[in-house]
Formats: sequence, C-alpha cells, structure tokens
Amino acid sequence: MARQRWNSRWAFVLAAVGSAAGLGNAWRFPYMAYSNGGGAFYIPYFIALFVAGIPLLMAEFGMGQGLQASAPKVMRSAGKGFEMIGWWAVFSGAIITFYYNVIMGWIFNYLIKSTTVAWKNNPSDYFFNSFLKISSGPGEIGALRWAIVIGLAVTWLWIYLILRKGTDSVGKTVAWTVPLPIILLLVLGLRGITLNGAGEGLNYLFSPDFSKLADVKVWAAAFGQIFFSLSLAFGVMITYGSYNSKKSDVANNTVITALGNSATSFLAGIAVFSVLGYMATIQGVGVDKVVSQGIGLAFVVYPKAISLLPGGVFVQAIFGFLFFVMLLTLGIDSAFSLVEAIEASISDKFKVGKKKFLITMSIIGFIFGLLFATQGGLYWLDIIDHFIGNYALLIVGIFESLIFGWIIGAEKLRTYINNVSEIKIGKWFTFFIKYLIPIILIWILTTSAIDEFKK
Ligand code: PFF
Repeated sequence: MARQRWNSRWAFVLAAVGSAAGLGNAWRFPYMAYSNGGGAFYIPYFIALFVAGIPLLMAEFGMGQGLQASAPKVMRSAGKGFEMIGWWAVFSGAIITFYYNVIMGWIFNYLIKSTTVAWKNNPSDYFFNSFLKISSGPGEIGALRWAIVIGLAVTWLWIYLILRKGTDSVGKTVAWTVPLPIILLLVLGLRGITLNGAGEGLNYLFSPDFSKLADVKVWAAAFGQIFFSLSLAFGVMITYGSYNSKKSDVANNTVITALGNSATSFLAGIAVFSVLGYMATIQGVGVDKVVSQGIGLAFVVYPKAISLLPGGVFVQAIFGFLFFVMLLTLGIDSAFSLVEAIEASISDKFKVGKKKFLITMSIIGFIFGLLFATQGGLYWLDIIDHFIGNYALLIVGIFESLIFGWIIGAEKLRTYINNVSEIKIGKWFTFFIKYLIPIILIWILTTSAIDEFKK
C-alpha cells in the first residue's frame, strides 16, 4: 500500500507544531521555568534548544522523510539489533499516552466545571479532595473516579475519530486545533497583562537567578523540557516526516516547528504569570507564595486566579472556559501524534488495518489509563512521569544521536538535508549529532541518576 501523504505542506507543519505544542508548554514549561531559576532558566533552555532540540528535530524529520519509515524501521536500517531502540521509543510514547489522556480527561471535566466556577474560593481542596478524592500513596486500585473515566473515554474516542482517516482527517483537525489555542493564549495573555499587578508576575518569571545555573538539575530540566516539548525521542517526528515527500524542505520545516513551539511556551508563560501576579497583588503576598508546583498550576493556581477576576461569576466563567478550551485543543494534537507514531510503527512491520489497530489501541490505552483514574492516580502519574521525563527520553536521545551520527552517518544525513533544503546546514550539525549531544546527555543522565541514588 502506498504510504500516506500530507495533503499540503501546511498540514504537515501544523501537525508538527501541534504535536510539539501541548500541555508541556502551557502547564509544564511555566513551572519548570519558575522552579529552575525564573528568567535564568531561559539560558539552559535556549542552549538545549539550539544544541540538542533543533539538530535532533532536523535529524528525525530527515530520517523519517529520507527513508519513508517510522522509528523502528529507521533504526533497523542501521542494523537489525537497533530496531529495538525504535520500539523502546514507541513504547515509552505509548506509556505517555496512558497518562496524558487522563489529564485530557481532567480537562474535559474542568471545562464543564468552569461554566459555574465550581471550585469557588478553594480550588486546591476542590481539585484534590472533591475531584480526585486523592489518597496518599497508591490507594485502592478499584476506587475509580467515574467522571475521569468518562473524560478518558471521550479523549480516546476523539483521538480515534481524528486518526481514522489518516493524514486527511489529521490535516482537517489541525487546521483549527493548532491556531485556536494560540489565539486563546493571546486573549488570555491580553486580559492578564492588563490586570493590576501583572508586572509583578512577569518580573518573577523573567528575573534571573544565575546561581541556579551551577546546578546540574537545572540543565537536566532544560534538556528534558526541550525533548518533551519538541516531541523528540518517541518516534513522533520521524513518523510525521515520513508522510512528507522525499523532497520536502527539512531545514525550513524544522525552524518553523521549533519557533512555533517556543513561541507557544512564551505566550503561555505570559498568560499564566500575569494572572498570578494579579492574584499575589490582591492577596498582598509575594508571587512566590501563590505559585505552586506541577499539576497544581493548571488545576489549582490558575483556577484560583480565575475566581478572583474582576467582573463577577459570569466573566470568571468565560475566562475559565476559554482557559480549558485552550488546554484541550493544545493537548489533543500532542495526544494523537503519539498514537499515530505507534500506528505507523506497527503498520510498517505487520499487516494490520488502520481501523482495527486504532480500536485495539484505544481500548488498551483506555484500560491502562484507568490506573491513573483511581484515587491513587496522581501517585502513579508522578512516578511514571518522572521515569519517562528523566530516563526513558534521555536514553533514547543518546542512542538516537549515536545511531544517526556513527552508524547511519551524520554527514550522509547532512548531505541529504542540504540537497532538499533552502538553508544549508554547516558541519556543526555532524559534530553536534556525533559528539556534543551524546556527551551532554550522558553527563546529564549519569549526574542526575547519581543524585537520585544519594537521596
Ligand atoms: N510535546 C507535547 C507537549 O509538549 O505537551 C507532549 C508530547 C507529545 C511528548 C508527543 C512526546 C510526544 F511524542
């Protein structure tokens, strides 16, 4: 069967930006920045972007497009034994979808709850106790939260509907699910920066604490964030590249995708922190007092800020609703891109019909997702996210750069990219892929693993 094709260059670019820009930008990036030196985080973030993110994104697009194949098949071209690395990448991606889609399920719930500002004045108590009914530790596996289960089912159904007609239906979806959240971020950002005290929040986000740069954890966080954010090392960008014609401009595609992704993170930082500054100001406390960690940012801190917006419940409901529509549409293209990478890998190897695969995958994903929809869900989510974010990703990244660099050949890849691209890529690319990226990733992986065992 002929390989699927994107209907247009735009369908590809939007799908790639859509995969990259997701919950990682609106929810993970802002708290990564504030907990790793505020404005100073931008230094390792941009270094990670230029040193590892852009070159590896270019390599993934180039390999997928050049070989017209998904990750396991691309790796296999380096030797039979390497196919495993491709499967490992795809398998880690599958694990991400299991919990990513549960978070999508929460967002569906919060979309409805926002219409009445259901969390009232105490979103933290509401989120942890009323909504998640969280238990400390693993909790009872059987204690499902039905609202979340329904949200999870709706998410999988949506993914099925989007992927079922392949690049055709993906192209139609991303035509609105990519621009819409960006427009909403602009609206939320504009509302944010016109609030009293917004400057305090932005100051907090952008004022650097250079002492943090000496901490290897900050560097690990920056590289991890870039990998997660650019959807690298899960086979997604390889798969998306493989639906391009062999002549598509790789360098250009890479620059647009990376720029679109970083711009979304930047906008999200402004939209979130301006509102947090306002909240701190009316509560008469410092911004650091209102910023809480991780998941809390989207489901606790931001809703709290919404319930303090001037203009009454109606206005609050509107902004709350827009915020969750933004998250939902931002997240969906990332969620389905992971499933598409699995689908492509399986159908490159076995003869399985698309629909059959998607139905089976949705059911498996739904069942595994149930673990995160129990009272102990957050506990499991933390452990798995930590493992994937700190280890699985970096390990694939190391193997990927070594395989591309040394076995397939970075120079060969560079020649191919330069043959199809308008911007020409210098020799630095080869040096980065062969030496710099693996050395940095190995250093980060070992120092952060040692740190962890010391604890
Ligand atoms: N890049 C997405 C985000 O930032 O939310 C998440 C993601 C999607 C990670 C696809 C990995 C992936 F393969």
